[in-house]
Amino acid sequence: MTASDRVQADRVQAAWAAIGDLARRPRPDGSAPHAIRALFAADPGRFDRFSRRADGLLLDLSKTSLTEEVLAALLALAEAVGLAARRDAMAGGAAINTTERRAVLHMALRAPRSAGFRAEGEDVAAEVEAVLGRMQAFCAAVHDGTLRGATGERFTDVVNIGIGGSDLGPAMVTRALWTPAAPLRAHYLANVDAHAWEAMRPQLDPARTLVLVASKTFTTQETMTNAALVRDWLRGALGEAGANQHFAALSTNLKATAGFGIAPDRVFPFRDWVGGRFSLWSAIGLSVALALGWEGFARLLAGARAMDEHFLAAPLAENLPVLLALAELWHVDGLGYPTRAVLPYDERLARLPAHLQQLEMESLGKRVTLEGAPVGRQTGAVVFGEPGTNAQHSFMQLIHQGTLPVPCDIILIARPDHPHADSHRKLLANGLAQAEALMRGKSAAQVEQEMAAAGTAPEEIARLLPHRVFPGDRPSATLVLPHLDAFTLGQLIALYEHKVFCLGALWHINAFDQWGVELGKQLAGVLLPELEAGAATPGAHDGSTEGLLRALR
Ligand code: F6P
Repeated sequence: MTASDRVQADRVQAAWAAIGDLARRPRPDGSAPHAIRALFAADPGRFDRFSRRADGLLLDLSKTSLTEEVLAALLALAEAVGLAARRDAMAGGAAINTTERRAVLHMALRAPRSAGFRAEGEDVAAEVEAVLGRMQAFCAAVHDGTLRGATGERFTDVVNIGIGGSDLGPAMVTRALWTPAAPLRAHYLANVDAHAWEAMRPQLDPARTLVLVASKTFTTQETMTNAALVRDWLRGALGEAGANQHFAALSTNLKATAGFGIAPDRVFPFRDWVGGRFSLWSAIGLSVALALGWEGFARLLAGARAMDEHFLAAPLAENLPVLLALAELWHVDGLGYPTRAVLPYDERLARLPAHLQQLEMESLGKRVTLEGAPVGRQTGAVVFGEPGTNAQHSFMQLIHQGTLPVPCDIILIARPDHPHADSHRKLLANGLAQAEALMRGKSAAQVEQEMAAAGTAPEEIARLLPHRVFPGDRPSATLVLPHLDAFTLGQLIALYEHKVFCLGALWHINAFDQWGVELGKQLAGVLLPELEAGAATPGAHDGSTEGLLRALR
């Protein structure tokens, strides 16, 4: 370790220690480090101090226990780890995904040529532009009917076969933005469970269905199995040559796409500096462009680009992704809150929690540092969520009154796309109320007063009191989008992508590999022939797996 490395390591250690101190000690006014009500009581103007805006998007962190002092300590950690320099290294195309020796350049996919992104020195703009150009031309040909199915019919449906990052982002975006006026219907086939295909098949006419095989590696078992099922279905209806006219591939593995029989002009490539969970903006987004129209996809990229520009330029203390990451670090490592709920108050964002689950948990679920040493602290939070208000009638009970606080991201859309103003007001009232209720809680005195006013007998009040108290001081971050459209959705997704980058840098872990998914894949490979043969290899498994194999037979 060089002398300057030692100085930096000491600064990082000191910053962590300062955060730990703030998280353990009562504040100067005597309130607990996790208290939020006390902060509002002392400073009703807290909203102005702890909310930030970027290009119309508002992030309110005032309903967390962040104080000026805590924020300063968190920002000191960001400075100590060299967050800005790390961000610039990512943007500069350095191989920051060290275990796979790859650059991390999803930002290049949504940047104008003038942004000058380079992957380890190589200019990537021309290639990005060329693929986008081919995608746009392909969409135009499908939409105007120049490109038709084998029987001459126009395509009305597109099936995207992919899983993980090759499914979740596009499926979430299409679900959020699709309307009946859109050019094509999109369907997403991910699970190797063929019930998924059997449920989808009756909705499709092979003569009018275009199929995209979306796989970065083009080796993923689920995707290749489903691609073969769908190919059989198309071949059965249209013959082999006909079926081929219904396929396109989105992949980095051009050898494997050729092996599957997809003509080169139907293959839309991207490069290995695009991680699966960050690949929505690459050729993997083709189903979005086909379903919503090219303009929709272009606006999505523009929204993400706007967030990139904010992330690259705004000072750390004003930078939305940085602040979101610091708040999470305070919750996870400072206060010991290891989970987070994502609550979009918009039915169209129903799949956002699933997308964020992969984005965050596949990225940040790491236990060793970049150098391979134990990380020594809690890293990635467990992320889950559902749209509000449905969540309120499901798991919110635990978040209000369970033993461990669960920070929430509450996402509100100011202006709906339907004419039912009353419904929208109720939706917003509920979203705001959840955040307020979590923070304020309800004291024993309040409960007692309410119950007495309702004429409840004193012994009944005493019996129910502990059950009806809400502890409060439970944190939430509120995001407000003026409207849900392709641009704002692009901003929102990119905000979370950059938050993930920041947490990776703060925790000093590699947020861009995913070795943890490999072992299960390997063992499934061992079990598959045993299921085929109907017998386990003696001694190959533990007693439980052997017992379960017998039971399944
Ligand atoms: O499960 C691991 C993973 O590699 C994800 O990171 C990825 O998004 C998914 O599988 C799909 O991979 P591919 O696009 O290569 O089929």
